[in-house]
Amino acid sequence: MAGTIAAELRGLGGAGAELHAVGSRSRAAAAAFAQRFGIGRTHGSYADLARDDEVDVVYIATPPALHAENALACIARGKGVLCEKPFALNAHEASEMVRAARTQRVFLMEAMWTRFLPAIAAVRSLVADGTLGRLRLVVGGGGFVPVFDAKSPLFDPRLGGGVLLDAGVYLVSLASMLLGAPSGVLAQGELGPSGVDEQETILLRGADGAQAALYVSLQARRPPDLEILGSAGRLHVAAPVFRPTRLTLTLSEAAPVVSEHPVAGSGYAAQLVEVTRALQQGRLESPVMPLNETLSILRTMDLVRACLGLRYPQD
Ligand SMILES: NC(=O)c1ccc[n+]([C@@H]2O[C@H](COP(=O)([O-])OP(=O)(O)OC[C@H]3O[C@@H](n4cnc5c(N)ncnc54)[C@H](OP(=O)(O)O)[C@@H]3O)[C@@H](O)[C@H]2O)c1
Repeated sequence: MAGTIAAELRGLGGAGAELHAVGSRSRAAAAAFAQRFGIGRTHGSYADLARDDEVDVVYIATPPALHAENALACIARGKGVLCEKPFALNAHEASEMVRAARTQRVFLMEAMWTRFLPAIAAVRSLVADGTLGRLRLVVGGGGFVPVFDAKSPLFDPRLGGGVLLDAGVYLVSLASMLLGAPSGVLAQGELGPSGVDEQETILLRGADGAQAALYVSLQARRPPDLEILGSAGRLHVAAPVFRPTRLTLTLSEAAPVVSEHPVAGSGYAAQLVEVTRALQQGRLESPVMPLNETLSILRTMDLVRACLGLRYPQD
């Protein structure tokens, strides 16, 4: 992801920001990355990057178990942070990150890039203006089947592996955006041989009795999509739901209306523009992905993991 984001930022002409330094666990990897993307300064440890006084904001793309430690080091040195999803392993870590950022008065945001895409902005406005009527159900999910590798971060419980934190977070986040913080969370799932969750179904109870039924899997393939059902109609968000471009609106018995919402490039640019603008304007968080909602999403995922019996060593 670090390479993808570096390329995207370069493609944007920086969007007002300069890719100034890179940090890696090894000096050689930092130098190779810097050469690839034309970056002037390299650091052979994350601590050294956090100490670099010429850096304003750090994008964190380490495995999930390291997000809190890495973010707290940067925040302690007065740096803003854009932290990859999942923002942290659990709500406790996330609340420490948020508390530190608020105390230090630095910018902090979960890199939930999907929120910044045009199709999701259109979903929000169709829900907000009442087109769908009373929101009743959010239904969706998908799966992919990676080759099992106990050493890869996706399957390693010590690094925050599992399908919930990797892919389920997108669905939980969308349900949160649509239904608010759930008042009830239920889940059933399967842990794989390395001890992380390989699939689950999740039921959430939202405001006004609305519900979400979500699923994710590392054991079966299906492009992830989502349908939002209201009393006046339904809206289908075509796969992939983390980078959607096509919406289909069906109002009562009327014919479905398809709308296209193209995404430029990989789709990560909009969140980078948001971070840059926030820093230029002195804002400490984004109204599109607010920190209180990130905390609520982590609390929901903690409850899902409790249902599955999945505890990380750091929990
Ligand atoms: N937004 C998206 O679409 C998207 C897509 C994929 C992943 N992600 C998220 O981005 C983050 C990074 O994912 P990724 O796939 O880029 O991760 P990755 O390739 O597995 O690891 C990224 C880097 O983390 C560093 N690292 C530090 N400690 C490590 C350890 N113990 N094991 C392995 N790597 C370690 C390594 O960099 P150095 O060796 O240079 O220190 C490594 O190159 C995750 O939170 C993931 O969920 C987001």
